[in-house]
Amino acid sequence: MRVLIVGCGYVGLPLGAELVKQGHAVFGLRRSGADELKAAGITPLPADITRAESLVGLPRDFDWGANCVASGGGGVGAYQQLYLQGTRNLVAWLGGAALKKFVYTSSTGVYGQNDGTLVTEASPTEPETETAKVLVETEKALLAAAREKNFPAVILRVAGIYGSERGYLLKQFLRTEARIEGQGGRVLNMIHRDDLVGSIIAALECGRAGEIYNAVDNEPVSQLQFFEWLAGTLGKDLPPPATVEEATTRRRGFTNKKVSNRRLRLELGYQFKYPDFRKGYTAEIQRLDKPVG
Ligand SMILES: NC(=O)c1ccc[n+]([C@@H]2O[C@H](COP(=O)([O-])OP(=O)(O)OC[C@H]3O[C@@H](n4cnc5c(N)ncnc54)[C@H](OP(=O)(O)O)[C@@H]3O)[C@@H](O)[C@H]2O)c1
Repeated sequence: MRVLIVGCGYVGLPLGAELVKQGHAVFGLRRSGADELKAAGITPLPADITRAESLVGLPRDFDWGANCVASGGGGVGAYQQLYLQGTRNLVAWLGGAALKKFVYTSSTGVYGQNDGTLVTEASPTEPETETAKVLVETEKALLAAAREKNFPAVILRVAGIYGSERGYLLKQFLRTEARIEGQGGRVLNMIHRDDLVGSIIAALECGRAGEIYNAVDNEPVSQLQFFEWLAGTLGKDLPPPATVEEATTRRRGFTNKKVSNRRLRLELGYQFKYPDFRKGYTAEIQRLDKPVG
């Protein structure tokens, strides 16, 4: 297959490298980093998806596409530019071409539920934060393109990504900056980067256009259970409780839900390398323990 990866960062780059390994011809679109792409066997396509004119003249004969761009922070304006307008530009550019599948990595942040309930792809998406609302709009634009223009969009709603060199909670814990909120009952949903790469490939191979799949591991875990396991495994103390002030500044937009991965497992047949946080974080802790060089 000829595969286009839009946004070749923490997820897109290893995704491209894996597809190259599997024998596909992979093209990587991002604004910079051409050498990094070439080193992974990916053909660089330097462009900026927020500027439609920068896509003109690029090849568009791809079988598969995956959009893994991320804004690296930024406010609602940056989200609108990159996710919503960027996606519209991609649909306009690639629509009507030979594309058979286009996977977009959205976020489980589109679920605003904060009562600890189980959410599936059919659950309401009414997030509180303005940035998450932009992701909902982006999904709607893609689903409309799938319905009305035959654009083969498949949406993956991705949970908190961790893995090599990235693991916000582990880093926070090691820096003794982690805090337990209230009774620690808030539920965390995660996925290891290797499994996200595998899930995107499963969606490219078997995902149905116009459908949504949650990309999250098998075991939503409460904050308290997660830190108890981490503290026990590392032989360190449990983080202290958050102060009232910390809890108030952190609370806005915080969600509390258990995200189901049933569709990913049963419909896409995805089998996890790291089915839960214990397996995934054990691998990351072992990596930390290894001497460098
Ligand atoms: N982090 C999480 O826990 C989490 C949770 C849910 C969903 N997600 C989603 O997972 C996906 C992958 O995230 P990631 O961590 O791999 O992101 P990342 O490491 O920040 O990589 C983002 C990539 O997008 C490219 N990019 C940014 N702006 C661009 C533009 N205007 N035009 C073209 N390329 C652009 C960047 O390259 P240049 O700067 O060279 O352009 C970079 O290669 C994203 O869709 C993100 O929203 C992440």
